[in-house]
Amino acid sequence: MATAKRSTVTDALVKDHRELEAHYNEVVNSTDPDHQERYGNQFTWELARHSVAEELIIYPAFEQYLGSKGHDIAEKDRKEHHEVKEQLKKFQGLKVKDPAYIPTLKSLWANLKQHIKEEEEEDIPQLEKVLSTEHQHTGVSESLATKFGRTKAFVPSRSHPSAGEHPPFETVMGLLTAPIDHIADIFRKFPDKTVSPNPSTK
Ligand SMILES: [Fe+2]
Ligand SMILES: [Fe+2]
Repeated sequence: MATAKRSTVTDALVKDHRELEAHYNEVVNSTDPDHQERYGNQFTWELARHSVAEELIIYPAFEQYLGSKGHDIAEKDRKEHHEVKEQLKKFQGLKVKDPAYIPTLKSLWANLKQHIKEEEEEDIPQLEKVLSTEHQHTGVSESLATKFGRTKAFVPSRSHPSAGEHPPFETVMGLLTAPIDHIADIFRKFPDKTVSPNPSTK
């Protein structure tokens, strides 16, 4: 019986990266504050969850499968995440009509774009290479992708840089804030017809 090909780590991360880019473009290419607010919130929601899920699932996998080189990659990525999370914390606290709203998002994106490029062109290919060439790792990329997707459902949806980037500290500190973020999301505006925690179309 034919089965659908399961997503790999590359598929899962690249999909998120393209979505983030699309949300970013919706904000910066619009002049409608309502549209910008919805996509700005969607951007924050997606980036906060993506970052923490990478820190919990993907970066430990670099360390597990790529040895000391993997440790260096993970530490570099954690540092870059921390900087972006500080910028996201600033952005998420701004009102859409604040003159700093777009400049803050643009400077965040300049950093994030570079980080995404490194993940896609250097870091993830190295992980995939080990996972695809060593027989005992068959299916690991697919199972990491599944875990990554599940993890995104319960991690915080706003930026909390003070929680750090290293599990398990982050697991405890960061995850305690998740329920509060998710409840507050109910009162935020999101784009219509997108998958988000907010059922409201107000
Ligand atoms: Fe990342
Ligand atoms: Fe990423």
